Amino acid sequence: MSSAVSMKTKTKVPLIDLKRQYNGIKEEINIAIQDVLESQAFILGPQVTEFEGLFASHCNTKHAVGVSSGTDALILALKSLGVGDGDEVITTPFTFFATVESICNVGAKPVFADIDHETFNIRPDLIEKSISNKTKAIIPVHLYGQCSDMDQILEIAKKHDLRVIEDSAQSVGAEYKGRKAGSMGDLGCFSFFPSKNLGGMGDGGMVTCNSKKLEELIQMLRIHGGKPKNYHAALGINGRLDTLQASILIKKLGHLDHWCEERRQKASYYTEKMKGLDLVTPKVMDFNKHVFHLYVIRVKERDRLMAHLKTNNIDCAVYYPVPQHLQKCLADLGYKPGDMPETEMAAKETLALPIFPELTQKEQDYVIETVEDFFCTSK
Ligand SMILES: Cc1ncc(COP(=O)(O)O)c(C=O)c1O
Repeated sequence: MSSAVSMKTKTKVPLIDLKRQYNGIKEEINIAIQDVLESQAFILGPQVTEFEGLFASHCNTKHAVGVSSGTDALILALKSLGVGDGDEVITTPFTFFATVESICNVGAKPVFADIDHETFNIRPDLIEKSISNKTKAIIPVHLYGQCSDMDQILEIAKKHDLRVIEDSAQSVGAEYKGRKAGSMGDLGCFSFFPSKNLGGMGDGGMVTCNSKKLEELIQMLRIHGGKPKNYHAALGINGRLDTLQASILIKKLGHLDHWCEERRQKASYYTEKMKGLDLVTPKVMDFNKHVFHLYVIRVKERDRLMAHLKTNNIDCAVYYPVPQHLQKCLADLGYKPGDMPETEMAAKETLALPIFPELTQKEQDYVIETVEDFFCTSK
């Protein structure tokens, strides 16, 4: 009996375990929450401004505006650039639905450009082919924790006078040629969904930028477009970051760099140990600093491997099983199977293995042995 199988009944490996993170920082988090409870300043309290300042410095941007989620960050970013009815926005079909949903929700049309085979990020050459006279913006998504090829994207944007919004929801702290995710385009959008590398205890998000004008516009749009209060020159949303979330995120931000390093080390361990198996480990471009929000492998027999891991108490997941151009609610856009071949292949062949800063080596070894066991027994 192989060692993986012999451990089967004892070990349970989660995809992510937020309780372990909380247990390590419980005291400081509890004090931060208590402070907000004492102040009762739940909406745009001083911790929101403090966190915005700290987050902007972490991203090397001049400004950061705290908002209610990553989805609202995208909606506010698009609105602040005046993207709306009749406009087209080019993005990747291999992302979480919110990227595309935000484009539709401001009245614009998403136009898809397929992804690179190795990094799963949008291909700049295909962006350029998708530009029309209605194109207003590009939303590259820094998927799984690795930045898209921003130099090429920014050059195309400059050439065609387009705005760039970086969907950095999965990539806080990631770097491209020494530049931080969210600092390269016109605007950067972040999510503090609890499972993100910097996760709140509820929903939250941030928009980063270097333009004072855009910062002020987004500050206004996140409170219904009212400035001063009750005087509305623009249609906004109710999209503020809660003080409670900001107070928690201030504390967590202090640990983020260390957590990212832990993720990188665990990713290297997987990659080293799984060499020689019939699967493809993540490709990190040499100019990128990856933060491994997800550790995603490519494997032909994905569904069978997933079932094998789950039978052996290992949690794993597919990000994303349905390419966005084939979502039912977007049928009117007219895309069909075969239009985005790389994305469609990735949706069938990718699998995320457990990764989080507190994952133990014993757990990783068990995951690796169970993957090895799959290839031995399926021969
Ligand atoms: C790539 C991407 N964009 C946008 C979002 C939306 O963020 P939120 O869930 O905070 O609204 C997510 C979150 O899952 C994401 O992964």
